[in-house]
Amino acid sequence: SSAAEEQMYRPNFHFTPKKGWMNDPNGMFFANGYYHLFYQHYPDGNTWGPMHWGHAISKDLIKWEEQPIALYPDKDKYIFSGSAVVDTENTSGLGTGKTAPIVAIYTLHDMTKEKAGKMDVEQQDIAFSNDNGFTWQKFEEGNPVVKNPGIRDFRDPKVSWDKTHKQWIMALAAQDRIQFYKSSNLKNWEFASEFGKNIGAHGGVWECPDFFEIKVEGTKETKWVLIVNLNPGGPNGGSGVQYFVGDFDGKTFTMDAGFAERVQNEKAVWADYGKDNYAGVTWNNIPSSDGRRLFIGWMSNWEYAQQVPTTTWRSSTTIPRELQLVKKGNHYNLESKPVRELNNYVAKTLKVQSLNGKGTLKVIESGKADLTKAVISLDLKNLKQDDYTFTLSNANGESLSFGLNNKENYLFIDRSKAGRIDFSDKFASNVSKSFLEGSQKSAAFKIILDKTSIEIFYNNGEKVMTEIFFLNKPFSALTISSKQKIELKNGIIQVLDI
Ligand code: FRU
Repeated sequence: SSAAEEQMYRPNFHFTPKKGWMNDPNGMFFANGYYHLFYQHYPDGNTWGPMHWGHAISKDLIKWEEQPIALYPDKDKYIFSGSAVVDTENTSGLGTGKTAPIVAIYTLHDMTKEKAGKMDVEQQDIAFSNDNGFTWQKFEEGNPVVKNPGIRDFRDPKVSWDKTHKQWIMALAAQDRIQFYKSSNLKNWEFASEFGKNIGAHGGVWECPDFFEIKVEGTKETKWVLIVNLNPGGPNGGSGVQYFVGDFDGKTFTMDAGFAERVQNEKAVWADYGKDNYAGVTWNNIPSSDGRRLFIGWMSNWEYAQQVPTTTWRSSTTIPRELQLVKKGNHYNLESKPVRELNNYVAKTLKVQSLNGKGTLKVIESGKADLTKAVISLDLKNLKQDDYTFTLSNANGESLSFGLNNKENYLFIDRSKAGRIDFSDKFASNVSKSFLEGSQKSAAFKIILDKTSIEIFYNNGEKVMTEIFFLNKPFSALTISSKQKIELKNGIIQVLDI
């Protein structure tokens, strides 16, 4: 029944639409005290369909309030993914009132042309809001702002203000590469350059880029990060989010030499190594007094997103994450941490007893903490070259295991016994892995648990793995096992009130 579904599967603190289908997060910005989140939405069905922009707002990135739908498709003209900017100086001339106009740039996808087998199916349109992002009007007289040049996949414009070169910059996914366009007024766009053909992962179409300048942690230096979502061809099958680090001269993005080497060695570098973080992009217009680069993803994968066992709604977002660029030796790493606002919801903090022993040891005894809204931090010390497996379980015999294989040097999540997997043969067909550079001496895990998801932030966000699951009963216990001696320290469980 739908009450049982709400009870079992509606996340406690990840955004889901009340009803209907959701995919990519779109057009996020901060204005007038609110974080805005829009999303690919089909309100009348629980699978992908005529795309709208759904809308939600939050004061703290954790508690979301769904709003009326922001953008409706005209017949057969779906509103695909895109971004939105606060046009503080009214460069677009679309402002009419006291507040800065907010301009959304999205892909208009023409289903009539698609059905007719045409190439020019996708073009970039804009819409604007003069009430801080609550109501929107399509820019009928001026659309499209970027015409289709004859490329079938030509979508997902990410626009932001490039303060270094004083211009609006757009990154656009054009099949197997990213194209950059620049503008002074958000209406006229000039092609600048392109990047990516034969670079990085190309197992599928490039989609949903993001492009921003970011400070290198602990330095005064800045670099540019280009995020490129890809489907299929992700690190563990299906959808995935890769990125590139380099420099930008206002026209051309050039990969950093050390990072280029890393891309060569690793084939592609991913922002998340689980199966369920896709189409992730970052917020625009975060005040400089805050200075964070904030990211959110769609917590699913096109391999099975339309088959997961919820019916009223489908899909949820990831926890919003703060991105940081860290330099290690001659390469850069994009690290993610759950936003600190989550700490405001910690209702109680339980200490996990230090463990020292072999075999299977209890980390969290059954029933000791509500594991449907918890943040668990655990440090493993003096590791040997062996397997260290954490197992979440319940009284129904359902379990999810994750941890560190310190012989073959990877982190893993195995959800093959974690409740319902029958809805798709792609859901649990393989153990997800994230390879590490060598065997580890110690390992710090921060784990965020909601009813249907686990998000693992390894070594303070150096590596991240995000996956969903569908249990018949919530997890109630956690163990760790290894053939080697286990030394577990500094364990805490933060139970959230949310
Ligand atoms: C990515 C994507 C985008 C597109 C949207 C359509 O998940 O395929 O490229 O704009 O979804 O809903």
